[in-house]
Amino acid sequence: MKKFKQLNNFFHPLKTDLGFEFTPFVATINDQIFQVMEATEEDIPTLMAFETEVYHGVATWSIGKFRSELRKDNSLYLLVYHESQLVALIGARFYLKETHITNLSVVPDFQNQGIGTWLMELMIDLARQKSSELVSLEVRIDNEKAKQLYKKLGFEALFIRKNYYCDLQLDAINMVLWLKPHRLKKREK
Ligand SMILES: CC(C)(COP(=O)(O)OP(=O)(O)OC[C@H]1O[C@@H](n2cnc3c(N)ncnc32)[C@H](O)[C@@H]1OP(=O)(O)O)[C@@H](O)C(=O)NCCC(=O)NCCS
Repeated sequence: MKKFKQLNNFFHPLKTDLGFEFTPFVATINDQIFQVMEATEEDIPTLMAFETEVYHGVATWSIGKFRSELRKDNSLYLLVYHESQLVALIGARFYLKETHITNLSVVPDFQNQGIGTWLMELMIDLARQKSSELVSLEVRIDNEKAKQLYKKLGFEALFIRKNYYCDLQLDAINMVLWLKPHRLKKREK
């Protein structure tokens, strides 16, 4: 989950107009039917209620953070609805060579049903379409479930961002999925 400190993007600081024309679609995940659509500013009240549910009473993003993210021309935020309930969110920013995941959240009642994995795979496919060389993200050091999910998809831990969640005095791990050959590969033991 991205915090909004004044950090430059580690690999590619340049913002571009790498936007998406996203067409809503219906998907079957684990035998259940969901609608996938792009978030707009009109969704912010729903997103605030959603965040409060995911994070057990405390929304981690403010209205202002959602607004500024949704206004970026290189960002894409996707909502997953089950009937009329918003059940999941994934967000990313697209740079010239890098796609950076900023948010992945699933409401508790729909967790452990494959939705988080499915959304990550969807965003990784979109990153490939944009010719990204890597997909990156930050995850709280104590978020074992999310770390396991990312590892399962091929992400590797690259470095620690000390005190990234400064309000909680917790570090973040920067994780990367390489989509193309790269020079930063860890040495084999
Ligand atoms: C993290 C989160 C997005 C995962 O979504 P999800 O839809 O529940 O995930 P999935 O069902 O696709 O995958 C669950 C994976 O988590 C891992 N996992 C599940 N329970 C786990 C546990 N107790 N310990 C470690 N890993 C666990 C496994 O890798 C599992 O995949 P598998 O079932 O194929 O083995 C969701 O739990 C969530 O929204 N949590 C709160 C917000 C959050 O932490 N977001 C991540 C910010 S970086």
